[in-house]
Amino acid sequence: MDKKIPLTGFTSTALHAGHEDDPRGSHITPIYATSTFTFDNAEQGMRRFAGQEDGYIYTRWGNPNFTEAEKTICAFESFGITDSNGAPLQLKAFLHASGQAAMTTLFLASLKQGDTILSHYSLYGGTHELLHKVLPPLGIDVIIADLRDLNAAEAVIKKNPGIKWMHLETPANPTIQCVDIAQLAALARQNGMGVSVDNTFATPYLQQPFRYGVDFVFHSTTKFLNGHGTAIGGVLIGRDIDLMNTKFTKWYRLLGGNSNAFDAYLLSLGMKTLELRMERHCHNAMEVAHYLDGHTNIEKVHYTGLADHPDYATCAKQMRHAGPMMSVELKGGLQAGKKFIDKLQMCTRAVSLGTADTLISHPASMSHFGVSKEEREKFGITDGLIRMSIGIENVQDILADMEQALER
Ligand SMILES: Cc1ncc(COP(=O)(O)O)c(C=O)c1O
Repeated sequence: MDKKIPLTGFTSTALHAGHEDDPRGSHITPIYATSTFTFDNAEQGMRRFAGQEDGYIYTRWGNPNFTEAEKTICAFESFGITDSNGAPLQLKAFLHASGQAAMTTLFLASLKQGDTILSHYSLYGGTHELLHKVLPPLGIDVIIADLRDLNAAEAVIKKNPGIKWMHLETPANPTIQCVDIAQLAALARQNGMGVSVDNTFATPYLQQPFRYGVDFVFHSTTKFLNGHGTAIGGVLIGRDIDLMNTKFTKWYRLLGGNSNAFDAYLLSLGMKTLELRMERHCHNAMEVAHYLDGHTNIEKVHYTGLADHPDYATCAKQMRHAGPMMSVELKGGLQAGKKFIDKLQMCTRAVSLGTADTLISHPASMSHFGVSKEEREKFGITDGLIRMSIGIENVQDILADMEQALER
């Protein structure tokens, strides 16, 4: 095969970076629906187990469909980024069964009894519960602070020397708050802490946390990376290749949160069009935000593409566009919100996000049901908040559906 020309565009990267030619000439990588892989002889099996020869062994440890998706995601997250020597940034990823599984591998491999995690006070409900319910019995504590205030973050770190980790989710689910990755990563480094970023809402097309020196990025690939709502999945990506090849490989294999060939195949198909979809999602979201912002029945639109959003500047600093996600509060609170959701005729009533169609959900009773009302309200998740994942339909149809659903 001729040496490949350097890929300079995001979609060229999406289509070619992770792909390896199939020995039988299949254009699209086939689905390797196999639990195990054969060896030519015992010696080869031994060499593979000893890491002396590349090759697959057992799907919990790796599979060609995982490799393809992992390579594409690494190419996305490192796109256009160089390391301290000016060489293209090297990353390694592990494809998981879900975003939650990727997060579990990350936290269990990185933290031990006596450690504390510092995080922002608006997080996906499952992350909030993992930090508050699963980790504390293992002796790992969590402190939640408003990390949009750098002085407050500094003060919390000074007061709590046990903080070993900073976990960021930006934009955050469902309030769309953004925190400054560059400033917080620098603060974490000064204090010897590790930093992880949940990049699910933004995707690497809109935001690349590795630009700011963070240690790990993860995604629920269930969302925009897959793009079509066809599979649950997650990915954990790290920049310390030695650590990823040793401890993280071990923990990934032992915890057993791996993906499967079919879901990985669906993810690879979806990622081919990430740039095109995100451009359309973001364009539509901006139009919807402007429309709702001026509507008499809307109390508040939380969208970081609107100049009056408190995190507008942070979003503009680190994201290509403000993204497809927004939340809104209707005049009339919960009752008005329920009525609006029930009247929708085209937009889809469902949790999750990142599918091609517009998804509308009610965080307090759905994605954040497991978070107490008191905590939800402290974080800005009011009972009347409606979350919208704006799709790639023709925008006039999204607006028309919202218009008729908002009529009183
Ligand atoms: C921001 C964010 N992170 C993580 C997750 C968990 O991902 P999964 O449902 O794939 O386990 C979600 C799910 O909604 C999410 O929105």
